[in-house]
Formats: sequence, structure tokens, C-alpha cells
Amino acid sequence: MSHYLYILQSKSLSKFNIGISENPERRLDFHNTITKEIQMIKFINGLPKAELHLHIEGTLNPELMFKIAKRNKIEIKYKSVDELKKVYHFSNLQDFLNLYYQGAEVLRTEEDFYEMTWSYLEKASSQNVLHCEIFFDPQTHTNRGIKFETVINGIHKALTDAKNDFGISAKLIMCFLRDLDEDSAIKTLQEALPHKDKIIAVGLDSAEIGNPPSKFKNVFNLARNEGFLTVAHAGEEGPANYVWEALEHLNVSRIDHGNNSMNDKDLIDQLVKSQMPLTVCPLSNLKLKVVDDLKKHPLKKMIQKNLLVTINSDDPAYFGGYVNENYTAIANALDLSKEEICKLAKNSFQASFLDDDQKERMIEKIDEYIGTHQV
Ligand code: ADE
Ligand code: ZN
Repeated sequence: MSHYLYILQSKSLSKFNIGISENPERRLDFHNTITKEIQMIKFINGLPKAELHLHIEGTLNPELMFKIAKRNKIEIKYKSVDELKKVYHFSNLQDFLNLYYQGAEVLRTEEDFYEMTWSYLEKASSQNVLHCEIFFDPQTHTNRGIKFETVINGIHKALTDAKNDFGISAKLIMCFLRDLDEDSAIKTLQEALPHKDKIIAVGLDSAEIGNPPSKFKNVFNLARNEGFLTVAHAGEEGPANYVWEALEHLNVSRIDHGNNSMNDKDLIDQLVKSQMPLTVCPLSNLKLKVVDDLKKHPLKKMIQKNLLVTINSDDPAYFGGYVNENYTAIANALDLSKEEICKLAKNSFQASFLDDDQKERMIEKIDEYIGTHQV
């Protein structure tokens, strides 16, 4: 009698069952599961895509944080990269933000902002991200004495170099910190005006609950009058009502996250009717306990209701995955088909701030990919 060693991996890729069985079908199960999952990972990796919800400060991984701290002669309160990684467990958004702002303190020079941005773009390009729209938080830096110019010039130079070296295209979205007051946001907008050509839109991020979009109505009006597009984080931890406010008071072109929209039927109808994009971030939602299990993530329902949803990594250095890991994890958890995955990738271009011709060309690239990688 032969015995077979089997290893079964759970759908969420987070658990393994290892055992010995006399039953050859166990081995077949294992083989089929793994083969299917590897094929899916390869398919996702090669798929052309855009990333629309990515905080550049959230790409500062522990290795780079230590390297930059050393260069700037800054003491980090953790002894090593491993010790720092051990504290990356969060019970909510604020818990994460505390560490995220602390991490950003090592960034001082144009070179620091350049290196962080370059390293994200290199990684994104290796994951077949053809276009990205990147958030940056100037107040996180200007409030500790770093010049606006230092931040934007470092980031912008990396975008230009990466475009030349990898062909990846990128746009910048300047976010206001919603836990600060509107006057501080207005001051930041004024600082940004000489750099208008480098920034496509303004956004709203940081601690959501208690800081509704309506608090920033005036600064968003000013920004729109200056020609900026607008987006806002809403419905991540905050209620569906904050999503309504972002639509009605801030005139946004996209909602970042938007999970709690699913609690309001009229809002869902409105988002579907207007095809308002939602930039969803599965691993972020899991790590910040917006969902306690990816299997309970609303993405599948969002797709079924015909919402224009996209997949993004949010703060990949903190949440354990870049964009492809987000696609893979949610595809596994919700058993998404290749058709659904392709739709998400097409949505990512559709929801972007590229012009219509560029969108069409990018979506054609996905169709070509599908043609050569049977769906
Ligand atoms: N800043 C960085 N990541 C964020 C998130 N997920 N929500 C709100 N603000 C953020
Ligand atoms: Zn975000």
C-alpha cells in the first residue's frame, strides 16, 4: 500500500494542511489546487493594470526606512528591521496611522523622497503596472519643517526617470490630512500652486471618523477652481453618509475605499448609475480590521452590482502586499473568475485620469493579453 504525503493550502493562502494518506485522491486534490493557484498567480502577474490608490509614504519598507535613517543620522526606536516588522499589527486605522507618521519622519531630503518613489515604481513596473496615480501627504512633512519643494521635487524626479527607464506612467494626487483643520489644507494648496503642472488632483486621507468630507468643502472648491480634479477617502471606517458628502460637497471623481457604501441602497444605486469608481484595497481592509476575513470582503457583491471597482495596495510596505498580492489574495478568498479579474484590471484604466485615447490603448493591451492567455 502506498502512502501519499499531501499538503492542502486554504483558499486564503494563509493556512496549510499537511498529512499522510493512503488515498491517492488526496494527492490529486493537492496537485489540482496548487496548479490552479499557480496558474492564477501567473495570470495576475502578467496582466497589464493600473494602480490608483497608493500612498507613497506607505511604500517606505523597513529596510529602506533603516537605510534612510542611517544616511540622515536619525535614531529609530526599533533596534532592527525584524523588530520593526513585529509591530506591524494594527487594530484599526488610527493604530496604523501612528506608525505610518512615525516612519515618515526619516524622510528629510530630496534624495529620500526620490529613492522611496523610485523603489515603488520599480516594484510596480515589475508587477506589470503600466500606470499609477500616487498620493502624497505634504503636511506630514511640512509640519516638521521639510520644504514643500523638497517633497515634490524628489517624488517628481523619480516619476520622470521611471517613465524613461521602465515606461511606467504616473500622476500625483496631493492629499490633505483630514484630522488637521481646513486652514492648514488651504495653506498647503497655496504652496502647491507653483507646482500645479505636477499634480493632477487633490485628495483627502488620514483619520476618517469625526472628520467628514464637508469639513473640507471650501478648500476643495478652491482646488477645483484652480483646475485640480478631486478624490477622497470615504467609507473606509466612516459611514455611508461620508461617501454622500464626498460626492455632494467635494464633487469627487473617485471614492477611495467606499466599503461602507454597501450599507446604503440608494447610495449603491447612485454609484452604479454614475459609474463612480471605488478604489478598493483588500489587504489594507484586512490588516486594518475593516473586514475580519477576506472571505467577507464586499468586493464580490460590488462586482455583481456593477459598481466600477478597482484593486489597489494602499500602503504596501505595511499591509504585506503590492498590487498583485492584493489581486491574488482577493481572487482566492472570493473565488473570482479570470473574467472578473480582467474586468477589475480594465476598470483600473477606465477609472484613471488618463485621457480617453490612452485608456483605450491600455484596455486593448488587456484584450491582447487575454487573447494569448486563454481565459
Ligand atoms: N493614509 C495612508 N493610508 C491611509 C488609509 N488607508 N486611510 C486613510 N488615510 C491613509
Ligand atoms: Zn488610502
